[in-house]
Amino acid sequence: MASFQTLPGFREFYPDAMARRSHVFRLWRQTATAFGFSEYDAPVLEPLDLYRAKSGPEIEAQLFSFTDKGGREVALRPEMTPTVCRLVGEKASALKRPIKWFSIAEFYRYERMQKGRGRCFFQFNADIFGEPGIEAETELIALLAQCLCSFGLTADDFFIRLSDRNLWFYFLEALGFDEARSRSLLTAVDRYEKLGDDAFKDDAAEFGPLDPERRAQILAFLAIRSLPALEAAVASLGSPRIATRLGEWRRLLGNLDAMGLSRFVEVDLGVVRGLAYYTGFVFEAFDRKGELRALAGGGRYDDLVGKLGYAELPAVGFAIGDMTFSLLLERRGLMPALVQAPDVYVVIGGEEERRMAFGDIHALRAAGYRVEYPLREMAFGKQFKAAAETGARLALIYGTDERAKGVVKFRDLGERSEREVSAAHVLDEVRSFFTTA
Ligand code: HAM
Repeated sequence: MASFQTLPGFREFYPDAMARRSHVFRLWRQTATAFGFSEYDAPVLEPLDLYRAKSGPEIEAQLFSFTDKGGREVALRPEMTPTVCRLVGEKASALKRPIKWFSIAEFYRYERMQKGRGRCFFQFNADIFGEPGIEAETELIALLAQCLCSFGLTADDFFIRLSDRNLWFYFLEALGFDEARSRSLLTAVDRYEKLGDDAFKDDAAEFGPLDPERRAQILAFLAIRSLPALEAAVASLGSPRIATRLGEWRRLLGNLDAMGLSRFVEVDLGVVRGLAYYTGFVFEAFDRKGELRALAGGGRYDDLVGKLGYAELPAVGFAIGDMTFSLLLERRGLMPALVQAPDVYVVIGGEEERRMAFGDIHALRAAGYRVEYPLREMAFGKQFKAAAETGARLALIYGTDERAKGVVKFRDLGERSEREVSAAHVLDEVRSFFTTA
């Protein structure tokens, strides 16, 4: 085995894999454009400080970071959110509203490798800036659902879990917890699905044991899976802030229902999101069978632009990762075969014929047809075999006899029929073949 292996968790895209990747990106791009989002991009390498204390301890521990030759502490981007906040923050006053942006880019996290998780991966990010109300959440959750539906996935394949960090804070406040303890308890809630009771260990170590009654109330809140259950759970708390917030929940769910998206969205207070900057509604998409890790995640982060030193600007967004998403498409049989067959294969006799064919080959390619020919001289039989193997629809034959007659032979490789056309009109004849075929 050669000694230059790919680094663990890094990916190579051979042409087949690249065709699948391009297919996924093409449909994401098309969907985002249909929703009126504009595409942007940004550097892969960023100042380390952009992520310190902004993304949260989990991402900070996973950074690929180093000191560059100029002595700067830098990191490969683990996510887009702090970067896009900088881009928007820099020019906020000049940007046309609403600011609806998307990108498709590669990210790096030094993670433990497992199915659907690597150390480099692509994300489709979509974010809206400057909209404080649930209209932004409506737009983004609709885009997330459509980004998955565009590939033929249905409500039987995936769903979006919707939760709310504001509601959690108001709830914990109503139970008598201060902000520091509430933050610690939310970290426990975030880990509860994975760790069970152990999730509360760190909180207890820092703040002392949790009162059993309070703990039961928190676990009951975490288990809420519908709006009526949520309404019932908070009714007795008598908090006006919670009552107002429930109004926003009803409007958001009403909007999604009007768009025909209710079947994708589930109320689920068990989601709070690990990233440090989320402030309001948060959501994550999962496969229905629960076989894969998260497909996508996002939420509102109204403070991050301000925390980076710019004028405050409300924001909501999400990212879909390409790895779990492609796995889901493959498991549901929705990843197309994507054979890249040429339109035309050119079969060539000798040197003289090659010169004659080259003019047509170039003219056909310039006209947008995908054309292949044998780079080296090859027996006729082999060329016909190659033509069939490529899956081309049409073979053009430039033989000695044809040259003598001033014609080119057209062989329809589907119907297996042949005819001769004037050598002077090859481009027009190819055009009419593909428009009438
Ligand atoms: P995230 O939940 O960290 O959110 O990542 C979003 C998605 O990226 C995940 O659901 C997963 O599909 C994919 N992903 C994350 N880490 C890996 C990995 N190591 N390997 C493969 N896929 C991975 C964010 O990144 C937020 N910045 C999203 C956001 C945008 N929030 C607001 N705007």
